[in-house]
Amino acid sequence: MAQKPTLLVTRRLPDAIESRIRRDYEARFNASDRLYSREELLSLAKGADALLVTLQDQLDESLISGLPRSVQIIATLSVGFDHIDVRAAEARGIAVTNAPGVLTDATADITMLLLLGASRRATEGQALLRQGMWSDPRPTELLGWQLTGKPLGIYGMGRIGKAVAERARAFGMRIHYCSLHRLEQDAENGAVFHADARDLLAVSAFLTLHAPATSQTKHFLNAQSIALLPEGAIIVNAARGSLVDDEALIEALRKGRVAAAGLDVYEGEPHIHPAYRTLPNTFLLPHLGSATVETRTRMGMIALDNLDAHFAHRPLLTRVLA
Ligand code: GLV
Repeated sequence: MAQKPTLLVTRRLPDAIESRIRRDYEARFNASDRLYSREELLSLAKGADALLVTLQDQLDESLISGLPRSVQIIATLSVGFDHIDVRAAEARGIAVTNAPGVLTDATADITMLLLLGASRRATEGQALLRQGMWSDPRPTELLGWQLTGKPLGIYGMGRIGKAVAERARAFGMRIHYCSLHRLEQDAENGAVFHADARDLLAVSAFLTLHAPATSQTKHFLNAQSIALLPEGAIIVNAARGSLVDDEALIEALRKGRVAAAGLDVYEGEPHIHPAYRTLPNTFLLPHLGSATVETRTRMGMIALDNLDAHFAHRPLLTRVLA
């Protein structure tokens, strides 16, 4: 029997994935489940044919150029690949694959949770109960803002943006969007397209971000763009932290210019701007967008399908290109 390819797996994965890896690969697992340092990663990659990595592994140009020649392919357990210098990988002849599609529903669901959590003041409500302070319920207590009938601005109308639109429609929201490409009329399903992001911002009483992290989208939400939003807008980010200038959002949340924010992602995560934690009008989650058993398992399966295809000399399913 041909020798199994050697696969370095940087983090623990759901059981079904680890079993498949054990069966088909010479696996190097991370029993401690601690994030490897650059030095550890480079040293553990020696002699490996493939890497199965996650968002937290920063595979920048210098790391990629330090990888041993044995590495032929990197599969990331994420749809986003801003943590990998794909150009540098291509220059080394290393293929990179991601895991698109399968996390659309889970991420769209969490976007709804963020919209509801922020607009219905869930953080304050939870604090009241957890601190034993809910003693005299009042009709005016913790009044939030209803989604029904409100405009929802979607910045980035890819798979996840569309799935959010579908859910938000069921909540009675009116969909507006700005994206690189306008959708076909059928797919638009009544959503209003704005070619210019400034026009989207102007109508977005609720705004949700679904664009990838690129140099063009960095700090899309900043003091200038926040100034264009309707007074008391509610902002949600389940895409990437780098889309938001934290200082500007925090300032707007403090002043009530932005009424509330629901955030699942942060620039520099897992380190988050400390003010987010102390503001009552933030509803915060620790990057849980794809964190369901079903979704993480399917993401792992896609990663392995790609690796299997590579080692069987078949076309890759979801290769990403620079
Ligand atoms: C999640 O953020 C992903 O890119 O998979």
